[in-house]
Amino acid sequence: MLLKWLLFSLCIMPALFSNTRRKCPAECQCSMDDLDRYQAICTKGGLNSLLSASELDIDVKVIIIRGPRNSITIGPALRQFMKLEILRITDSNLPAIGAESFWGLKYLRILDLSKNNITNITENNFRGQDNLIELDLSKNKILRMASSTFRHLTDLRRLNLADNSIVELVQRNFFMLSRLKYLDLSGNPLQDLQPDVFRDVSDLKVLKCRNCQLKKINPQLYNLLPLLSELDLGRNEFKFLEKDEFRDVKRLNKVLLDGNQLSVVVDQLFRMQKSLNHLDLSYNRLAKVPNDSFLQLTNLTFLDLSYNKLVRLEPQSVRGLGNLLALNISGNVLMDLMEMRDTFELIPQLTHLAIADMGPLPVGLLTPFKQLRYLNISGNSLDNMALQVIDPCRELEFLDLSRNQLYGINEDTALRIQGIRNVRLDNNPLICDECHMGKLINVVRQLQWKWDTYPICFLPKSLRGAEINNLDIGGLHTCLDYISDEEQNAASTSYNFLEHGGLNTLAILGGIIFVLIAVIILSLVACFSKNRARYYTREDHLNGSESNGQFARLQASGSGYLWALHSHTE
Ligand SMILES: *[C@@H]1O[C@H](CO)[C@@H](O)[C@H](O)[C@H]1NC(C)=O
Ligand SMILES: *[C@@H]1O[C@H](CO)[C@@H](O)[C@H](O)[C@H]1NC(C)=O
Ligand SMILES: *[C@@H]1O[C@H](CO)[C@@H](O)[C@H](O)[C@H]1NC(C)=O
Ligand SMILES: *[C@@H]1O[C@H](CO)[C@@H](O)[C@H](O)[C@H]1NC(C)=O
Ligand SMILES: *[C@@H]1O[C@H](CO)[C@@H](O)[C@H](O)[C@H]1NC(C)=O
Ligand SMILES: *[C@@H]1O[C@H](CO)[C@@H](O)[C@H](O)[C@H]1NC(C)=O
Repeated sequence: MLLKWLLFSLCIMPALFSNTRRKCPAECQCSMDDLDRYQAICTKGGLNSLLSASELDIDVKVIIIRGPRNSITIGPALRQFMKLEILRITDSNLPAIGAESFWGLKYLRILDLSKNNITNITENNFRGQDNLIELDLSKNKILRMASSTFRHLTDLRRLNLADNSIVELVQRNFFMLSRLKYLDLSGNPLQDLQPDVFRDVSDLKVLKCRNCQLKKINPQLYNLLPLLSELDLGRNEFKFLEKDEFRDVKRLNKVLLDGNQLSVVVDQLFRMQKSLNHLDLSYNRLAKVPNDSFLQLTNLTFLDLSYNKLVRLEPQSVRGLGNLLALNISGNVLMDLMEMRDTFELIPQLTHLAIADMGPLPVGLLTPFKQLRYLNISGNSLDNMALQVIDPCRELEFLDLSRNQLYGINEDTALRIQGIRNVRLDNNPLICDECHMGKLINVVRQLQWKWDTYPICFLPKSLRGAEINNLDIGGLHTCLDYISDEEQNAASTSYNFLEHGGLNTLAILGGIIFVLIAVIILSLVACFSKNRARYYTREDHLNGSESNGQFARLQASGSGYLWALHSHTE
């Protein structure tokens, strides 16, 4: 009897044991994930080999291995974990994938090998992976891929090849990827996209090729991708887009063209994009927006025109934008804001507006915007008086007033600010005494919520760098009207290089050295150009005057530094 019982328990013990105590390598943490899958997460770093079956239960479904300082190679050993669904080995110095490493892993759905050192991929790497949905090879060192590299991945939906060194896509590069929806090629020096390559991915919805050194796109490409809804071509070298550029991609929803060299958005460019929602044209060279550029964009909600060279934005050009909610026109330093009021009258429904880095805002500019919730007016040299401009906007939830010329916040403004969920006031020359900041300090103390950042004192020196919510209000000076002129002056020039209130000596020294170097270079250039003055062409002249302009600006801000230092040490 006893013997029988003993035998029985011996038999069921391993079963009990394996159910309750699973194996987990010392370098990892194992648990059940949200979908009740056994997972091993190994992120301590310093791993030199892959996990083996003696350390980890072979029915593990999720393995996540992340560096730093890992040095791993993958080989057939992986195949024992037959139930694997998700495998992520990132930041681990993988030099290669290995032929048929994943053979037999028929449940594998997500394979992430990003941030490794993979230079070469071939079709053998993915043999047997016809259930894979997502493949991430971004941030490796892939140079080129052969034709049909991915042909075993017939169910693949997402492919990320961003940030490699791919110089060319070859014919049939994406052969058999007919279900692919998402393709990211950003950060590869491709220079050109051959339409034919995209013949195999006609289901594509998202195409990203940011920073690919592209100058233009053959419209045939769009013809082959009729379902495209998101197109990211930011940070390329586009100078001009044809009127028919996007004729064949009628379902575009989001288009990013920021950081190119566009100088105009031709009339009717987006006439087919009835469902376009989000359009980013920031950081181009747009000098004007013709009257009919955005005419048909009735579904547009987000428009970013910031950091261009716009002189004005005519009411005519926004007249079709009845659903626009967010507009960014920051950094168009030449724009005459006096004229913008008429334009704003046509889009009173805005909830988000950014007019930063523009200079003084005329009173009444924001009167049309009764529903504004987000307002960014940083970098506009605003003082307390100029803050009246926000009076009409009663629904504000977020207000960015950073990088302005505010010495303090008066009672009215403090009460306005009280109702706003989040306010930014960093990089203002705030004087932390009772009369300049007392009201705001009280208001902030009573708020039911927290701001992301708190205003930082610039003066008096003893409080420089302190956050106002940490100040003891009883210990403040009543009013620092004895502040010497030079301190005031220092404050007024300080705001643009004031980071967390501390006047960084290094930055000043850096500024001085920079100016000196610039002076030396300029004198060298001057000597040099004198010597060859005879060979001046018109183009030289143009370039010359442009860089001189830049220098003049640098020098101007440089002397600001010098002067601030000067009046400071006096
Ligand atoms: C990555 O690979 C290159 C050559 O393929 C090699 O020179 C380099 O040492 C590798 N980097 C690391 C961190 O292993
Ligand atoms: C890449 O793989 C292919 C096919 O296996 C091979 O012919 C080629 O030599 C490899 N290239 C490098 C740089 O290892
Ligand atoms: C415009 O947007 C609305 C709401 O997002 C959507 O229902 C409608 O289908 C869109 N119109 C077009 C033409 O895509
Ligand atoms: C744009 O509209 C304004 C106002 O109606 C008009 O004065 C201007 O001539 C128009 N520009 C073009 C190019 O049609
Ligand atoms: C422009 O402003 C919007 C918010 O209104 C913001 O989401 C976007 O990032 C800004 N663009 C740039 C280039 O800063
Ligand atoms: C406001 O605009 C400035 C300049 O474009 C930008 O640097 C800042 O991040 C914006 N503020 C917020 C909160 O996005």
